[in-house]
Amino acid sequence: MSERVPDVEIGPATQADGTAVVALWRAAGLTRPWNDPDRDFADALVTATSTVLVARGPGGIDGTAAGDDPAVVGSVMAGFDGHRGWLYYLAVAPEARGQGLGRELVVAAEAWLAGQGAPKVQLMVRRENADVQAFYAALGYEDADCVVLGRRF
Ligand SMILES: CC(C)(COP(=O)(O)OP(=O)(O)OC[C@H]1O[C@@H](n2cnc3c(N)ncnc32)[C@H](O)[C@@H]1OP(=O)(O)O)[C@@H](O)C(=O)NCCC(=O)NCCS
Repeated sequence: MSERVPDVEIGPATQADGTAVVALWRAAGLTRPWNDPDRDFADALVTATSTVLVARGPGGIDGTAAGDDPAVVGSVMAGFDGHRGWLYYLAVAPEARGQGLGRELVVAAEAWLAGQGAPKVQLMVRRENADVQAFYAALGYEDADCVVLGRRF
């Protein structure tokens, strides 16, 4: 198992974290032109059954924390739809990867969802990001053998 990252705390994001969190999502390759990440972040924070958890620590995506303030080095969005919990936007800053932080973020999001009453958790992996499935497999996630369909309103 990976070593715990020192000096990193995981907790709920505030609206003030939006710029740093969206920058992290962009650096992690999670944004797409058809989604507005600023709106996704803001919506998750004002919705009672969703949240964004952030990992704060030394570093940050540009390698420097501003002053003495810890930088955002990881994030995960979680939401409970009344039937199951979902995870989105899991990201660890490139220089902070491979130290167990991704696992800690998933575990923290699972705990948050369980606290909301969610009995199970799922997530979607883009086909072009299939390599990340090995990460989730290490955390006990299994292929749900589903095709995900969607439509814009
Ligand atoms: C996926 C991501 C969050 C993993 O973060 P991380 O902090 O490097 O992961 P961890 O160090 O917590 O790894 C946890 C376990 O998964 C394994 N793992 C991590 N990345 C892996 C990979 N690419 N392939 C195989 N195993 C991997 C680790 O070996 C570790 O196993 P261990 O605990 O038995 O040692 C990070 O690589 C990232 O931000 N990627 C870009 C964004 C992304 O793809 N997000 C997911 C969208 S669905």
